Amino acid sequence: MHDKNASPAPALFTWEFAADPYPAYAWLREHAPVHRTALPSGVEAWLVTRYADARQALADQRLSKNPGHHSESAHGKGKVGIPGERSANLMTHLLNIDPPDHTRLRRLVSKAFTPRRVAEFAPRVQELTDQLIDDFCAKGEADLIHDFAFPLPIYAICDLLGVPPEDQDDFRDWAGMMIRHGGGPRGGVARAVKKMRTYLAELIHRKRENPGEDLISGLIRASDHGEHLTENEAAAMAFILLFAGFETTVNLIGNGTYALLRNPGQRERLQRALAEGDEGLLATGVEELLRYDGPVEMATWRFATQDLTLGGQRIAEGDPVLVVLAAADRDPERFTEPDTLDLARSDNQHLGYGHGIHYCLGAPLARLEGQTALATLLRRLPDLRLAADPEELRWRGGLIMRGLRTLPVEFTACT
Ligand code: HEM
Repeated sequence: MHDKNASPAPALFTWEFAADPYPAYAWLREHAPVHRTALPSGVEAWLVTRYADARQALADQRLSKNPGHHSESAHGKGKVGIPGERSANLMTHLLNIDPPDHTRLRRLVSKAFTPRRVAEFAPRVQELTDQLIDDFCAKGEADLIHDFAFPLPIYAICDLLGVPPEDQDDFRDWAGMMIRHGGGPRGGVARAVKKMRTYLAELIHRKRENPGEDLISGLIRASDHGEHLTENEAAAMAFILLFAGFETTVNLIGNGTYALLRNPGQRERLQRALAEGDEGLLATGVEELLRYDGPVEMATWRFATQDLTLGGQRIAEGDPVLVVLAAADRDPERFTEPDTLDLARSDNQHLGYGHGIHYCLGAPLARLEGQTALATLLRRLPDLRLAADPEELRWRGGLIMRGLRTLPVEFTACT
């Protein structure tokens, strides 16, 4: 459904696109809002870029999360979803399943991963944040991805799950392999996933014998009408909590800090509010950072279970659909001045955490980590500055996630 009179379609998935995909998304929203394209993996998929269509697609039960519905699933094996999850027997997690299985598993995990558990975790997140800043405080410079945004979520989720401190650096290494290879060769990711799988299976076994107060013990204990998670389901659940909760939060902190450094007026406003003890702008501000340059560029895969029409475009049974959250959240039909960062934006029903039954389960934890990380950085490093030319910064260029490889900064004061 291309508009024949439009300027030529922009190139997608190049390095320039990775650095700034928003002009290409603006073109797609206007001229080809449901657009079929070949992805770098060779798989053909529909990109959905308008807010109204995106929101509808995310909640549409005819779009399945089960990769078995992919028309190419036989020969496209392993090209959709998380690398390595198939061979590591980790397919039965929330992002790959539909109701009624999804309803059952989500209800069980919600009993263990409660808002209260997250709220009680707040002091620990603050402590981890401060420790990481202490480590580079005296140096006057840091790479905020490597030294801060990357380790914080991995240590946080390990603590929450109940991974003993002495094993957490292994997780840091595996997570590093996953993030380094994002968008590149898949072998490294698959190996890291397998190691994590073996470790989690053993940990779940140990926690079954010797339960504690951690989330893995909570997952094992959780029951609903007499139903429990099987060991395999518990392993897949722990894995998806790690996988979904890790790189996303890295990018929230990375993209968020970068956006603040590039918008000094907004950053000063937030710094002033924090100094006056007003946390209101922090809460709306983190939501706005999610909308403006969120961690999840495209929602995870969906597959049409029947022929259907979306945004006036016919989609055939078996076709993959990618909902482009980053494009939807800049749609001028939905947001006033969508390309402007406004930390006080109030009408902000962004899709950064998705929508519908797969809405982010970890949103309370992500908000806690994002707010703590950004507020603490601005409080403790009041004159934080970018130490690189924005043109030279490299973005990861993966499909689902959007994030910086490095974020060099400098500062004179660190308290
Ligand atoms: C689902 C975003 C952090 C766990 C999702 C989805 C999005 C998202 C967009 C829906 C995907 C889809 O419909 O295809 C984010 C962002 C985060 C974040 C932007 C950080 C800023 C976390 C954290 C955790 C987590 C910290 C857990 C520790 C999950 C899980 C799902 C999910 C388990 C699947 C839910 C389901 O299918 O029912 N997230 N997420 N996320 N997220 Fe997050």
